[in-house]
Amino acid sequence: MFINRVALVGVVGRYYTYMLYFKILVGFTGINESSSDTECLRRVQEITGKKLKFHQVDILKKEELDTIFETFLTNHFYLIFILQYDIDCVMHFAALKAVGESVQLPLLYYKNNVSGSINLFEVMNKHNVKKLLYSSSATVYGTPQKLPLTENHPTGLGCTNPYGKSKYFVEEILKDLVTSDKSWSVISLRYFNPVGAHESGLIGEDPQGVPNNLMPYIAQVAVGRRPDLKVYGNDYDTPDGTGVRDYIHIQDLAVGHLDAAKKLLSPSFSGFKAYNLGTGSGLSVLQLVKAFEEASGRKIPYEIVGRREGDIAYCYSDASLAKRELGWEAKKGLKEMCE
Ligand code: UD1
Repeated sequence: MFINRVALVGVVGRYYTYMLYFKILVGFTGINESSSDTECLRRVQEITGKKLKFHQVDILKKEELDTIFETFLTNHFYLIFILQYDIDCVMHFAALKAVGESVQLPLLYYKNNVSGSINLFEVMNKHNVKKLLYSSSATVYGTPQKLPLTENHPTGLGCTNPYGKSKYFVEEILKDLVTSDKSWSVISLRYFNPVGAHESGLIGEDPQGVPNNLMPYIAQVAVGRRPDLKVYGNDYDTPDGTGVRDYIHIQDLAVGHLDAAKKLLSPSFSGFKAYNLGTGSGLSVLQLVKAFEEASGRKIPYEIVGRREGDIAYCYSDASLAKRELGWEAKKGLKEMCE
């Protein structure tokens, strides 16, 4: 099945650009909203050699969002594009995601991630676009009660920060929405720890300021931008004492979206369904450091410091549901993640 009418909301910046890149490769077209980082889009165009059509709006400005849907659905200026640009489903990536910042600025996080999502769903409702792929997170599982994490693990319990809660709240809103209106269908993709970059080096994660997440921090140490990595604790109940996570290459993540979109658009799909996007196995901080050293040929100096508040020992997925039902599984290994 060829999908060519997907609206991407919130694709600029971070690894979401990768989705756009993939989407173009397979012939998708897209809109996006809200970002100052149009450099990512320029790079996507450079890699793919394709001209992109995108709109920059704030997801909190509902009227502007509405106008874009209106334009894609009715404007004659776009007549020749209507078949391509008409929207069958929306991939919703637009969210703030820094855990620490969310603790400092909860209202900002709830406004953007929850109110912004409601805006989008209302506009979708109005235009009768009722198929949604939601960018969720393993953070909705809170502190794992049982590992590996399956999709039926309880959610919401032990979500300790506003970012995590906002992802959980939106999932709950979506469940209520599909219950109230059977013509809505939603797939929520729960990402584990996305890492890696496009082989051109043009697309990847390059946060401004001090990175919060492990992989971009290691990358900055490797290029000498930071003197060493602070490893947050080596006294966890794990093989080497450091935290274990399920790292997934962004390219696998992107392919997971395409497979999920096919499922979402198949006539038999209805309701709300969540899928884990992970590899199904965990790696420790020190294992990742070692792999990065091998891939880059550079030493990554590190220092063991105290635990980071809110961290847990283990978090990894059972990714078998996505394999069974979406025909998807992660293919890229540790080496590619570190390249
Ligand atoms: C974090 C978020 C999660 C989000 C995910 C991917 C929290 C509690 N969770 O997960 O919601 O979906 O990022 O964006 O923040 N580490 C170090 N030194 C560092 C940075 C990290 O030792 O400088 C360790 C951490 O203690 C952890 C591992 O590396 O054991 C991974 O950390 P990180 O990349 O921040 O991801 P998570 O905390 O798993």
